[in-house]
Amino acid sequence: MPKNPPPTSTLPAFYKRSLEERRTQLAEHLGLDTLTQEGLWGEHPLPIEKAEQMVENVIGLMNQPLGVCLNLQLNGRDHLVPMAIEEASVVAAASHAAKLLRAGGGLHAESTPPLMIGQVQLCDIPDLQRAIALLHEHQDELLAQAASLDPRLVEVGGGPRAIEIRRLDPLDQDDPLGPMLIVHLIVDVRDAMGANAVNTMCEGIAPRLAQISGGRARLRILSNLADKRLVTVRGNVPFAAFCKPNQPPEEGQTIAYGIQEASIFAERDPYRATTHNKGIMNGIDAVLVATGQDYRAVEAGAHAYASQKGRYTALSRWRVREGALHGEITLPMAVGVVGGVIRVHPTAKAALQIMQISTAQELAQIAAAIGLAQNLAALRALANEGIQQGHMRLHSRNIAAEIGAIGSEIDLVAQRMAQRGGRFSHDIARTILQELRKAP
Ligand code: MEV
Repeated sequence: MPKNPPPTSTLPAFYKRSLEERRTQLAEHLGLDTLTQEGLWGEHPLPIEKAEQMVENVIGLMNQPLGVCLNLQLNGRDHLVPMAIEEASVVAAASHAAKLLRAGGGLHAESTPPLMIGQVQLCDIPDLQRAIALLHEHQDELLAQAASLDPRLVEVGGGPRAIEIRRLDPLDQDDPLGPMLIVHLIVDVRDAMGANAVNTMCEGIAPRLAQISGGRARLRILSNLADKRLVTVRGNVPFAAFCKPNQPPEEGQTIAYGIQEASIFAERDPYRATTHNKGIMNGIDAVLVATGQDYRAVEAGAHAYASQKGRYTALSRWRVREGALHGEITLPMAVGVVGGVIRVHPTAKAALQIMQISTAQELAQIAAAIGLAQNLAALRALANEGIQQGHMRLHSRNIAAEIGAIGSEIDLVAQRMAQRGGRFSHDIARTILQELRKAP
């Protein structure tokens, strides 16, 4: 672990530097050891033998770009945040929005304890009322049995905490089963994602649950709707922060109102909310992939949580208040910093290190903060110039490389496309490259 916390997550001119310069700047800034550097630079990918142990029918490895989000300040601390993603603009957008939110005092996050839910399905129960009463009566015994299945978790302060019982009745005429009981085992999983611990406990106590209830135990599995493991992140952007140096402050206010309008559109409409939330997940997933998390679990939980009030809606909301734009997001975040891929993947390990955190709660808060920042950046662009302009400007370097520009030609072609009215296409890039190469 680097010894000293980074003084700041603001690295001047980082994006303008060459790859080598960026690496040197980051390594010096964080005091990274060689192993961590090699992990980040991708010099030690996941060993193929490890990959073979992880999944089936392995034939190779799949890489993707790893960037760093700058400027994030969360609960008074700066963090440089690794993001693994194939989509252009996402890292730049998150860094820019983090800077805007920094101008409002940085982001603030809070979390509930790391409680995961395991489910055991009980069918064919002869007397539901009696079974519910008996299961409650046996709660202590069941919790003790579940705890005995993961003494290590109990040792570090986690373990099973409660049992909740839900009754599920037939939905309609097409539902052929009678009522069933679902037992929720609530487990404090501390710094783990928790799936293994919870699944083991559910499977372990299921026979006893069947015995007590007089029914049959069927499914025994964790729920990805981790709505007892929530993160909330809030932040403000003062109007002035939206303005370029020569713009009047009213301009900033107009931008803020535009973002509020965009937010309310998503809050009211599931078609828009889906895309709004996709933008949020662009940021969150990129952090989760970089740090070796089960991002599908977080995705599933986030979208289910977005529908919890009976209608799919936006995960975040933005409001104009007291001279600033206020943003807030709440979502479940089942992530871990022990076990899983982090143990074996050198890049995931190094990515976690550069954030300089030690708990799953901090990782969850950072991921949610990046989600909120990403959302701010998307809404700011959508409510103003539109998303394509900025996106294509950043993508123009890829276009230049794709049509054969090399070295300094790449930036020159990209710059000239922007200068020529911002029309970004392979044909235009080709013409510019030919002109460049013909010039003396
Ligand atoms: C694109 O990957 C994400 C956006 O569509 C998000 C949004 O519309 O809010 C730009």
